[in-house]
Amino acid sequence: MTVRVLAPFASRVCEVVGRRETGGYVVFSARDADGPEPEAGQFYMLRSEGWGEADGRPFLPRAFSVAMTAPDTRGVRLDFLVEAVGPGTALLAGLENGAKLELTGPLGRPFSAPREVNPGAAGAILVGGGIGIAPIAILRRHLSRRAIPARTLLGFRDEAHSGGLELFECQEVGLASEDGHTGHRGYVTDLLQAALKGDDARSAAVYACGPPAMLEAVRSICDARGVPAELAMEAPMACGYGACFGCAVPLADGGYMRLCVDGPVVRADEIETALVAGAGHR
Ligand SMILES: Cc1cc2nc3c(=O)[nH]c(=O)nc-3n(C[C@H](O)[C@H](O)[C@H](O)COP(=O)(O)OP(=O)(O)OC[C@H]3O[C@@H](n4cnc5c(N)ncnc54)[C@H](O)[C@@H]3O)c2cc1C
Ligand code: FES
Repeated sequence: MTVRVLAPFASRVCEVVGRRETGGYVVFSARDADGPEPEAGQFYMLRSEGWGEADGRPFLPRAFSVAMTAPDTRGVRLDFLVEAVGPGTALLAGLENGAKLELTGPLGRPFSAPREVNPGAAGAILVGGGIGIAPIAILRRHLSRRAIPARTLLGFRDEAHSGGLELFECQEVGLASEDGHTGHRGYVTDLLQAALKGDDARSAAVYACGPPAMLEAVRSICDARGVPAELAMEAPMACGYGACFGCAVPLADGGYMRLCVDGPVVRADEIETALVAGAGHR
């Protein structure tokens, strides 16, 4: 199993060193002078200037997957892909260069290597939906560095809820959209079904992040074909480090796991369902 990178003790303050709009989303970058480079699939709890100033909201930090990293002259640059859906994400999406960002991380369990997911894997199939493409982008980069073949399938609801394709650096990507504005008209899971036809299923390791309905479809497609898969789940999180049990999800064989410490990346066969109430983007 890929070893998780541990967060330094306590939160630290970083400087925002970049911001750009990409379709309906925003990528902002922070220079983390004192933190380690994260593994793909790990996340950070973020809080920015202005936090709690409008009616006391947002009160708690918010969880974000890291979408990309790059060495920086002073530490590591962390890129986050964000969609403004409420007070916390609106503040983060509006951050300008020089703003201060408080972060804790990297947190959680990262994606495993394809051979750890499926010992017979010849490569990976990556499936991202909406803002859930963030951890898929860094995973793709990490696999490509290790020369591991990966097919990437990305799906979006409509043009307003899409963006971030440049994070994949023009590598071949299969696209789907529900409104047909790009790629196949329909769901990204249609592309997954086609990719898993025939013998390809036995030699695949599937990785996915996206809205709960998409993750549940990936879970059930992979279950039906006996293809091992890992899912990055986005249940609502309060503390991010295992103290509050706010992120508990039911396990397939009974009991619960805390997604912030036992996930957010989980084996698809570990969980009862990926339909976690109140979690993930639509
Ligand atoms: C491990 C993890 C990784 C994540 N990575 C990313 C990421 O890379 N980029 C990103 O933009 N978001 C990501 N999220 C989701 C992000 O944390 C939430 O969107 C955020 O907490 C919402 O905070 P808010 O204050 O803006 O809105 P809130 O006040 O918390 O919610 C505002 C409205 O949005 C709804 N809502 C709440 N959470 C979500 C959600 N996740 N999706 C859609 N609607 C929601 C609520 O029902 C409410 O109607 C991640 C979550 C987790 C747990
Ligand atoms: S968010 Fe508090 S235990 Fe997971």
